[in-house]
Amino acid sequence: MTNLRIATATLVLAALTACEKPAEPTVAPPADDSGAVPAAGDDAVAADDGAAEEREPGAPGVAWADKSFDEKKTWMGIEVYPAMKKDFQAHDGAAYKKFTCDTCHGDDGKATGYKMPSDSIYPLNPADPIKGAMEYDEAVTKFMVETVTPNMIAMLEGTQAASADHPDGFSCMSCHPAE
Ligand code: HEC
Ligand code: HEC
Repeated sequence: MTNLRIATATLVLAALTACEKPAEPTVAPPADDSGAVPAAGDDAVAADDGAAEEREPGAPGVAWADKSFDEKKTWMGIEVYPAMKKDFQAHDGAAYKKFTCDTCHGDDGKATGYKMPSDSIYPLNPADPIKGAMEYDEAVTKFMVETVTPNMIAMLEGTQAASADHPDGFSCMSCHPAE
């Protein structure tokens, strides 16, 4: 892994030093080209041969749906958890002073395999989750609508927000149980 990274860095450096626009690769990137740091617009990222163990921890740049369970867990730890902790504590430092994986997944998160939605957070009306939530607590609901949901979608790369066209997309109900 380290060697691959160094090799990649060296290649990048070489390319920069040569000050040339990278030409079409002479050799098509192999499917297991997982040591490469995915550059923006790098088509090689689409490669999915299941060689999960050879990817960077958490498989950055690989769609959430295409990550292995272990990669999802690592991604939660390195990307989702720290960002969400920051968001929740910025919203209400006292209420979310203690912020852990359990805050979303519940005490039994580990035992249930981190299945979401979690039974342990506030239940919402699936027919209109925002309406009921606004009546319950406007401030936290705005935070959920404006910060938590979009930021979560952004971090679960390749995930779409629920909409009329994509009823199965990500929504409040991806975290909250139905009342
Ligand atoms: C802000 C809420 C939040 C926090 C905090 C959080 N997660 Fe998650 N986690 C989710 C959501 C939402 C999903 C499901 C995403 C999806 O597939 O729709 C998920 C999915 C997962 C999965 C994949 C489960 C599966 O069925 O494939 C694992 C594993 C996981 N989380 C582990 C963790 C760990 C470990 C931590 C702490 C380091 C953590 N999560 C913190 C919200 C959270
Ligand atoms: C990534 C997961 C996630 C998503 C998406 C999400 N929430 Fe939450 N929500 C939480 C967590 C975690 C809490 C805090 C749970 C706690 O305090 O026990 C919370 C708290 C709340 C609360 C306060 C509950 C209470 O007991 O005070 C409301 C209301 C709420 N969410 C509504 C919504 C609505 C409406 C949406 C959709 C716009 C939404 N949430 C989207 C994870 C999520």
